[in-house]
Amino acid sequence: MYMRTINVGLGAIMVIAIVLSFAAARDFSRPNLEFLPDMVHGPTYQAFDPNPNTEDGKTLRQPAAGSIARGQMPFRYERAEEDALRAARELLSPVATDDQNAIDRGAAAFAAFCQPCHGPTGAGDGMVSKRGYPPPPSLLLEHAIKMADGQLYHVITLGQGNMPGHAGQVSREDRWSIIKYIRTMQEPARQLLAGGMSK
Ligand code: HEC
Repeated sequence: MYMRTINVGLGAIMVIAIVLSFAAARDFSRPNLEFLPDMVHGPTYQAFDPNPNTEDGKTLRQPAAGSIARGQMPFRYERAEEDALRAARELLSPVATDDQNAIDRGAAAFAAFCQPCHGPTGAGDGMVSKRGYPPPPSLLLEHAIKMADGQLYHVITLGQGNMPGHAGQVSREDRWSIIKYIRTMQEPARQLLAGGMSK
């Protein structure tokens, strides 16, 4: 008996609450009641607003020395022989040697960006080279085989001699993938070379 009274009472309260919540005028252009907003509402300065709180009166701050913009990998090398050799010493490939995905990706990127000049096997007999462009040296020769990954990356990024740089059209990851693919193309020649040298 008591339970029934309580249930009816609760039901009545719920109905009243629902009716009230719909009846209460809501103004969506104003914030709700804020309880202890603390420091949520500070004065805002837009990037180019003058700002009395900074030494130079500007809002936009100089990035701290050595900051790197998101997504930007610094490449502090010039298109010069000594910088290519420095890249050979300093840059390490981020791609594992047995990363088959990277090698496949490198093969596709090589076909699109390098094959026109370097040819399908890297021998230097691409279509562009056959039509009068100064042919590149074969990538299967000792010279290219012995170039460190970092130097290959330097050549692809900035170019060398008649080869234009490819930083603009081939992403950083793809450049490293291409190098892994070139290594697989070079493998037979490299083994011959290693055999010859051990004699
Ligand atoms: C427009 C034609 C062209 C394209 C495209 C091109 N190259 Fe080259 N590449 C050359 C030429 C020409 C040379 C010789 C440069 C020189 O005179 O030192 C060269 C040199 C090289 C060398 C140095 C070889 C050595 O033994 O010194 C590498 C490595 C190389 N290219 C890799 C690539 C890769 C990887 C790509 C694709 C991302 C590519 N190239 C795209 C024309 C091209």
